[in-house]
Amino acid sequence: MKPNKQQAKANPRLLAITTLKKIITRKNSLDRQLHAQTLSEDIRPLVYELVYGVLRYYYSLDSLLQKYMHTKLRKKDTDIYCILLIGAYQLKYMRTPAYAAVNECVALSQSVKKTWAKPMVNAILRNISREAQDNNQDRQELQELQEFSEPACFDHPQWMIDHIKAAYPLQWREILKINNTRAPLTLRVNLRLNARKMYQTLLAKAEIEAQPCSINSAINLKAAIETKTLPGWQEGLISAQDEGAQQLSELVSLPPGTRVLDACAAPGGKSLLLLEQNPEIILTSLDIDAERLSHLSEETQRLGLPTPNIISGDATQLDWWDNKHAFDYIILDAPCSGSGTIRRHPDIKLLKLEEDIQKFAVLQLQLLENLWSVLTEGGTLLYATCSILPEENDLVIERFLAGKLEAHLLPVKLHSGKKTKCGYQLLPQQDGHDGFYFSLISKQNL
Ligand SMILES: C[S@@+](CC[C@H](N)C(=O)[O-])C[C@H]1O[C@@H](n2cnc3c(N)ncnc32)[C@H](O)[C@@H]1O
Repeated sequence: MKPNKQQAKANPRLLAITTLKKIITRKNSLDRQLHAQTLSEDIRPLVYELVYGVLRYYYSLDSLLQKYMHTKLRKKDTDIYCILLIGAYQLKYMRTPAYAAVNECVALSQSVKKTWAKPMVNAILRNISREAQDNNQDRQELQELQEFSEPACFDHPQWMIDHIKAAYPLQWREILKINNTRAPLTLRVNLRLNARKMYQTLLAKAEIEAQPCSINSAINLKAAIETKTLPGWQEGLISAQDEGAQQLSELVSLPPGTRVLDACAAPGGKSLLLLEQNPEIILTSLDIDAERLSHLSEETQRLGLPTPNIISGDATQLDWWDNKHAFDYIILDAPCSGSGTIRRHPDIKLLKLEEDIQKFAVLQLQLLENLWSVLTEGGTLLYATCSILPEENDLVIERFLAGKLEAHLLPVKLHSGKKTKCGYQLLPQQDGHDGFYFSLISKQNL
């Protein structure tokens, strides 16, 4: 019998299967898919554990399943494949007793109306359960013995492993390893409304364990918590933002009246940080995605900030902009692979393809070229990505600078990470934040 909506709502495993199916078939991203569902607090943790867990270890779980799957499943049976992934994840990484994990998955085959799959699910998961008990050998060791492919060992697609290896020949293993861990929940304290020390006292009173980060607005929480339930959330004392992204505040200090364009602004993290720390700027927040921009004005109200000029539009086509050369400062937080944020978005490993990197590079260059035309003489452009791939970072900036006599790189120095030819690279395995790239370019006819 097909599960009705009520049953699916109540059953976290079925919800996890629906979510995974959309990602594996590349129909939706994890964020959008999870936001599309209203999960009650009693089932949310299990749905998240299963979905994030399977996506983190997808490549090794898949290789394990292939070992015991004697017939290839049809595309229309992706739900059975997702049931097997969930079962294998529970057996390998959760404390679910083996008999319970196997029985639940067999029952799920019935719930998705595929009774024929029950014996197969049962047999495959029992084999995996036996293997999980027998074999605790470290996967990295097994790879070195060439018993596993690199994707199965490092839980990334081969093309991504190759690019990261080429860019970071000494650190690639460490980067891949950290990508499969859980990112901390990092808060940005609204320094206009309270000092970090004051907010730490509020957390301590609420018995929430936390650790200050090196950036003076950032605090890491020991355990993930629904942000809206944190003390002072409604009053705008804090927001959630990775420490790498918060390093923007080290680079941008703007006098009152500066005309600023945040050109790819949605959902608004950087715009809000800018306003908190430079409330007297004249900010325009632009993004092509109106839906992603829709919460920005609500957020400015919550944080007690002035509302920027919010525009939904395409930054590669600024001919609609009637006031050319209008901005003194432009932030281009460009669309990218997100390869520095895999801990938070493990679906990136399945959704992004190698050819996307080149497509992003083309779009990034196009955005830079167009935005350059609306930057005043003497103005500054900050280029940022949450990518660790040079193809989207230094190589884009190098191409952009070629032949532009009026474009000059400015020095960038941050708390962590390393200087690159054209900017600064934060890596995800350093200091616990995401991977980011920043480059500062000034426009000056010398
Ligand atoms: C990395 S995200 C920006 C994150 C944002 N700055 C923040 O801190 O919350 C990249 C954004 O670029 C936007 N984007 C993609 N192509 C664009 C275009 N042609 N014009 C304007 N925005 C675009 C996407 O909609 C996406 O919101």
